[in-house]
Amino acid sequence: MIDRSTPPLKSLYQQLILDHYRKPRNRGELDDRTVEVLMRNPTCGDEITLQLKVEDERIADVKFLGDGCSISQASVSMMTTLLKGESLDKAHKLATRFTKMMHGDEEAARDPDLGNLRSLAGVAKFPVRIKCALLGFDALQEAMKKTRGEEEDAEG
Ligand code: FES
Repeated sequence: MIDRSTPPLKSLYQQLILDHYRKPRNRGELDDRTVEVLMRNPTCGDEITLQLKVEDERIADVKFLGDGCSISQASVSMMTTLLKGESLDKAHKLATRFTKMMHGDEEAARDPDLGNLRSLAGVAKFPVRIKCALLGFDALQEAMKKTRGEEEDAEG
């Protein structure tokens, strides 16, 4: 007899991805943002705009705008849920881990710090979709670079 009480992991992951795609978290305009980055996927032309409010080296708030496929939208939505309140260092670590996972690193794919983002591990098998999954994190890395560059300029 087949036990139907526990859905296979793959279908749980698909449900998570669809849920974030249909009900994206932290979508909208962040009025008191300190940095904004527009990132485009060159293969399809889809764009997302990531807005952060950074205070004392911490991400106090985050929102995003833009459209794209389910993978890009789910990925950026999941990413934003992990970032609020985190230090820039932690955000950088998450971005590095996620990028490694997208390049097939199995150890990174088991990192509990990545939370629901681990549901996207299977995307690593589809090279054309990896850029979709990385769009939000590429924007995040750029936003942090901008923030740190501006701080250095202010310090002279
Ligand atoms: Fe455009 Fe995925 S197809 S972001």
